[in-house]
Amino acid sequence: MATLQEVGKWMMESKNTVVLTGAGMSTESGLPDFRSKEGWWRSIDPSTVANVDALNRNYDLFHEFYRDRIISLSHCKPHEGHLIVAEWEKKGIISHVATQNVDGFHHQAGNRNVSELHGNIRTFRCHNCGAGALEELFLNGDNCRECGGRLRPNVVLFGEMLPQEAWETSLDAIDSADLVLVIGSSLQVSPVNQLPSMTKGKTVWLNKEIDSFSQFDKTIEGSAKNILQQLNNIIK
Ligand code: NAD
Ligand code: APR
Repeated sequence: MATLQEVGKWMMESKNTVVLTGAGMSTESGLPDFRSKEGWWRSIDPSTVANVDALNRNYDLFHEFYRDRIISLSHCKPHEGHLIVAEWEKKGIISHVATQNVDGFHHQAGNRNVSELHGNIRTFRCHNCGAGALEELFLNGDNCRECGGRLRPNVVLFGEMLPQEAWETSLDAIDSADLVLVIGSSLQVSPVNQLPSMTKGKTVWLNKEIDSFSQFDKTIEGSAKNILQQLNNIIK
């Protein structure tokens, strides 16, 4: 596929490649995404579980949604595509991973320069006093040991500010990138969906569903794992 060859060439010429990932990066690890046909938001209204209001007004539903995701996460692991992205960082082929994913798979695969723009569901805190909390306390439905407040994962809920450091680090990475690869995201949610348009470099969208209005220099339709394996063979 000529386009893949061209993207591989761009990667080998690039001095600073940034990867931006979304939930489509983890579906082949067994985790649903949000907006494709098997996605979370096809069966659950995000406003009932993934915003602060839900946490305050309907904690049981909020807790059940995130507890189920955390438990399913424990049976899943990074796939070969994650391992390739980690290898690319080790070899200096990419400089940074900015992810919307909350599964921690890029870290687990070995990447170190990672910005978790939507936080993660690996660590927990009290929503009231901010004290850190253990996963088992959250899973058991316990309250904060310090103040009795409600526990939550360190995920960015709809309407919450993104972690400032992750956001600023991603902005800096995008600003100095000469190539941005967006993998497995529908780019429906701000402000992350603005990042690709902020780079002076070339942009490539690798995704299962490519809409025809994409402003990318190149688009590649297909599965993240398969595309990453093919790209890895090209640049080896
Ligand atoms: P939105 O379009 O309402 O606004 C984006 C969010 O980003 C807002 O909360 C805004 O305060 C913040 N933001 C905008 N510019 C920013 C900047 N320069 N620095 C830091 N933060 C900035 O988005 P939304 O649909 O309300 O969702 C809010 C966030 O929560 C999104 O990132 C979304 O992806 C995330 N979210 C996570 C989950 C989950 O389960 N992980 C579920 C739903 C939403
Ligand atoms: N390979 C490539 N693309 C895939 C794959 C795959 N194996 N599986 C799914 N996709 C594509 C889907 O076609 C879809 O376009 O990945 C995209 C995933 O988009 P979303 O489900 O919208 O997920 P994402 O873009 O990460 O959502 C952004 O919204 O609800 C919030 O916080 C949540 O971080 C999430 C944010």
